[in-house]
Amino acid sequence: MTLNIVIGTQWGDEGKGRVVDLLAAEADYVARFAGGDNAGHTVQVGAQTFKLHLIPSGVIHPHTVGVIGNGLVVNPKTLLQEIEMTRAAGVEITPERLRISHAAHIITPAYIALDKAREQSRGDEKIGTTLRGIGPAYNHKAARSGLRMESMLDLEEFAEAVVIQVEGVNEALKNLYGAEPLDTLEIAKEYVDYAQRLYPYIGNVSYLLNDALRSGANVLAEGAQGTLLDIDHGTYPFVTSSSPTAAGALVGLGIGASHVARVIGVTKAFQTRVGEGPFPTEVFDDTANHLRGTGDKPWDEFGTTTGRPRRVGWLDAVLLRYTIQINGVTELTITKLDVLSGLRNLFICTGYQRDENIYPDLPLGPTDLDYETVYEELPGWDEDIMSIRQWDDLPKNAQAYIQRIEDVAGVPARYISVGPERDQVIKR
Ligand code: GDP
Ligand code: IMO
Ligand code: MG
Repeated sequence: MTLNIVIGTQWGDEGKGRVVDLLAAEADYVARFAGGDNAGHTVQVGAQTFKLHLIPSGVIHPHTVGVIGNGLVVNPKTLLQEIEMTRAAGVEITPERLRISHAAHIITPAYIALDKAREQSRGDEKIGTTLRGIGPAYNHKAARSGLRMESMLDLEEFAEAVVIQVEGVNEALKNLYGAEPLDTLEIAKEYVDYAQRLYPYIGNVSYLLNDALRSGANVLAEGAQGTLLDIDHGTYPFVTSSSPTAAGALVGLGIGASHVARVIGVTKAFQTRVGEGPFPTEVFDDTANHLRGTGDKPWDEFGTTTGRPRRVGWLDAVLLRYTIQINGVTELTITKLDVLSGLRNLFICTGYQRDENIYPDLPLGPTDLDYETVYEELPGWDEDIMSIRQWDDLPKNAQAYIQRIEDVAGVPARYISVGPERDQVIKR
């Protein structure tokens, strides 16, 4: 009956997987709508930790159906590996429980080689991509020379299409970047094997989801990346190549806007970024070590997909207001509040300053972030809050920090996550 959309309001890694797992208890379908295996979504259930890149995080609940929408670019090799891993962890993955859009695009090793060659050639100007072939796959999609999942349904034609595509990219690798060409026939053989294993999962997921919505089912759309990485609305050119916003959910699944009920913006209690690009509230030294952690705890800020240390900083309310507007966010879920325990003072960026002028909003959007940051200082708290489940039990300063975020954001924070575990959450 309703479509709820979960999106990231920052630069990704806000804890979307964890929040989707929480909300999937009430959903019938959980659908990824953008990106590919550049995403890394962590879900912790008891002693088990799932790190999902393509399979929607909601499938850990046995009653759900997982959907991979047309907005994705799918690496069939990593998808098959992830299916095996998830099965080995005791989650049933069958063609009935996981549906893949016929119109999703396919990543081949040629795109991965091109992603690497492009990053290398950019030198100091590199974007810091995940090197998963995401940019080249969306490039070819827009150039109308991509391979779609539906082409896997005719093996002979598919093998030919793979050969043509890899040969084309080989030319670019050789001529533009001086890189080694790839073995076209070897890749075609490998991809025919993937097609033989994946074809039962492929179908028209737009019909599936629209029928489900008409018959009263709940659909949860699972965002990947974050709004500040959006190709149109992010910190261009330091962005990904897709639309990780709420609007991207409609395009990336083939659902109309009239079904949307809630847009849940996942926001980390501080700010992180992995890869290059502007980051006005970035911090270094002791505060950075506190926010990032040293890598001894599973939730420390090291990339789920790449293992790279994430850059960290104070919460940027100017950017948050902007991403709330872009997505039409109706409520926030704030994650990792527990990580702030032990910091004497906390800072929220509430304005940008240039010369004598202070701007509460972004004059030219987030591509121009060359401003001084204006901070508001709030007192921290010492208590470990990971075992707290009731709002009233939170330290007063933690309550005040959340309330200040709500004030500047203009939307309520309905869930506050105080740990990575399914039950480490405060519902208001
Ligand atoms: P996603 O890409 O948005 O799904 O986020 P990631 O999984 O890449 O990164 C979020 C990290 O924070 C993961 O290690 C989660 O297990 C962890 N996490 C999520 N929520 C919380 C929280 O409230 N507290 C703590 N300590 N860790 C959390
Ligand atoms: P989840 O879903 C954080 C970043 C990369 C790089 C830029 C472009 O886990 O939040 P790409 O490989 O997409 O061409 O890289 O986007 N990036 C992410 N950062 N979380 C993600 O996903 C990301 N997906 C891409 O680090 O800066
Ligand atoms: Mg992640």
